[in-house]
Amino acid sequence: MTRRPRGGGAAVLIGFMGAGKSSVGRVVARRLGAKFVDIDARIESAAGRSVREIFAAQGEGVFRDLEREAIRQAVSVPGRVLAAGGGAFCDAGNRALLKEYAPVVFLDASPETVIRRLSRDASRPLFPGEDRAERVRELMDRRRPFYEEADFAVSTDGLTVSEVAARVAVLLGNGTGRRR
Ligand code: S3P
Repeated sequence: MTRRPRGGGAAVLIGFMGAGKSSVGRVVARRLGAKFVDIDARIESAAGRSVREIFAAQGEGVFRDLEREAIRQAVSVPGRVLAAGGGAFCDAGNRALLKEYAPVVFLDASPETVIRRLSRDASRPLFPGEDRAERVRELMDRRRPFYEEADFAVSTDGLTVSEVAARVAVLLGNGTGRRR
């Protein structure tokens, strides 16, 4: 049976850091003629500092509070494509709000892909500096059960942003493909 979110959103993209949620979300939104909202960007503009600075100065707990608030605000406006940070969907309240808002698409990526995409990116406080392969795999394994609650999953390994966006658009458009 097809789940029909009642919040009137266009789509929610979730998945691990480096899965391409923001880049893909921007392209998907353009294809759908929808507005794109990056939850991390909303948090940064509300806080007046970067995610890395929030983690360093105030800690993860404060960041998660800001994230919950940014999600609550984002889902109050229909018609948008949202990209939520890698940890957002692990919170039960966020999960409920996002699922209620729009079809949720899990962008999947292997640990190798994530490490390759992020190895020169210093903006993510939870991306490990050492023992990367092991720690990324560990965190991903812990989060996967939540990510798998999405309506759709798209593997992004070896695909360009526009290829992933095209797959997402097909899934959203006609409901064929891998529906959970
Ligand atoms: C986080 C992922 C980041 C950002 C924050 C925490 C996480 O977003 O929300 O650094 O817990 O995985 P991206 O998934 O966009 O990197």
